[in-house]
Amino acid sequence: MGDTRRRTAARLSSLPLPTRPAFWRSPVRGVGFTAVLGVVLLAGLTLLFVTGLVSYAAYNPDLAAVNDKTPDKGWLGFYLFDWPTGPRWLYRLNQGVHVTLGIVLVPVLLAKLWSVIPKLFALPPARSVGHVLERLSLLLLVGGALFEFLTGLLNIQLEYVFPGSFYPLHFYGAWVFFAAFAAHTALKLPRALRVLREGIPPGEKDELAAPDPAEPTVSRRGALAIVGAGSLVLLATSVGRSFDPLRRTALLAPHGGAEPGPGDFQINKTAAKAGIAPAETGERWRLTLVGPAGEVHLSRKQLEAMEQHGAALPIACVEGWSTSDQWWRGVRLRDLAALAGYPQEAPGVLVESLQRSGSFRTVALRENQVRDARSLLALEVNGEALSPDHGYPARVIVPAAPGVMNTKWVARMTFGEL
Ligand code: HEM
Repeated sequence: MGDTRRRTAARLSSLPLPTRPAFWRSPVRGVGFTAVLGVVLLAGLTLLFVTGLVSYAAYNPDLAAVNDKTPDKGWLGFYLFDWPTGPRWLYRLNQGVHVTLGIVLVPVLLAKLWSVIPKLFALPPARSVGHVLERLSLLLLVGGALFEFLTGLLNIQLEYVFPGSFYPLHFYGAWVFFAAFAAHTALKLPRALRVLREGIPPGEKDELAAPDPAEPTVSRRGALAIVGAGSLVLLATSVGRSFDPLRRTALLAPHGGAEPGPGDFQINKTAAKAGIAPAETGERWRLTLVGPAGEVHLSRKQLEAMEQHGAALPIACVEGWSTSDQWWRGVRLRDLAALAGYPQEAPGVLVESLQRSGSFRTVALRENQVRDARSLLALEVNGEALSPDHGYPARVIVPAAPGVMNTKWVARMTFGEL
């Protein structure tokens, strides 16, 4: 009986199981290699987290329930601030960095996970209470990182893959991930920096190095160069989403990005997709203004007869694509507020679209957004009447606001209480 057990144990220990350190033979693995990737991730993921939080603030979630896609956030929204209207490219820059960086960091994240994978299989799985806690935090770290990258990438690639739930998933996921990330960084950064400065001191073990390394096919430097090249390829094939002249080079994340829309700049949603029937936007269409002056109904002709103003402003989508400045013309939002009964200080406004569904069919804008002289109810863009897909008969355009807050096919604007 004892012999059988011994033989089984011997057979098991000779099996090529990933729980055996000798299973992992790449000579590239080592704490120095992991440390380089870790430091890159520290800078990149911190910026990714901050731009993600800033993106949420850009929706003015404190203003009205219609703007807040994560109403149960509690104190996680402690940092929210009033979103400004300048510089006009603020959201464009923030979201372009957030999404492009998220794409570019994919090879670095995968390489980092590859570099530490033997540790994830190491036995025994729990050596002490502290070890159990550390492993749990690693579960949140690795799971959180994969979850955030996956939800973000799916959202920019596929439309409505998480109907209505992307914002809460990505928002809460980000906090879970970042808490684990901060704990991991606090534990590992000192060692990472020491190894990067001095290498592994003699007598100290490199616990990520293979005990029985295979013949090298690439040096550590070469492996890092491959990861860097992967990131550069992703950068080159996605950065065009944010710059008009490079648009055709944007092979990745085409959602709303690659093909120019009507009027030579792209859109996410066509009138047909939003369910806007041509009859609703024809002669019968009226804009309803609501305020202390009661209800005011305006046809497109009446809007055209009001004082027209121009503004050069970009469209910047939450999915990271953006256009350069387009030349908009229409009526100032503050002039509409005056018509609705606020001749002096314009208040915030609740804007409703003809669209019947969709999480942004109603949007609240802050008073600073209504008062800005460049905030328009646009009737024209680039010298022509708006096309149906760009929001005919009238759409909102506000400097520095996320694309979805620039409501298309506007039907009703309620000034004052939101
Ligand atoms: C998405 C971000 C990250 C993920 C998913 C990740 C994942 C991991 C995992 C699973 C381990 C193995 C842990 C163990 O069992 O000991 C590890 C080890 C390590 N990480 Fe990270 N990490 C990330 C970011 C960072 C950062 C920002 C740094 C530091 C700047 C860093 C430095 C290290 C070092 C030096 C080790 C191994 C050496 C040792 O165990 O002493 N990591 N990482």
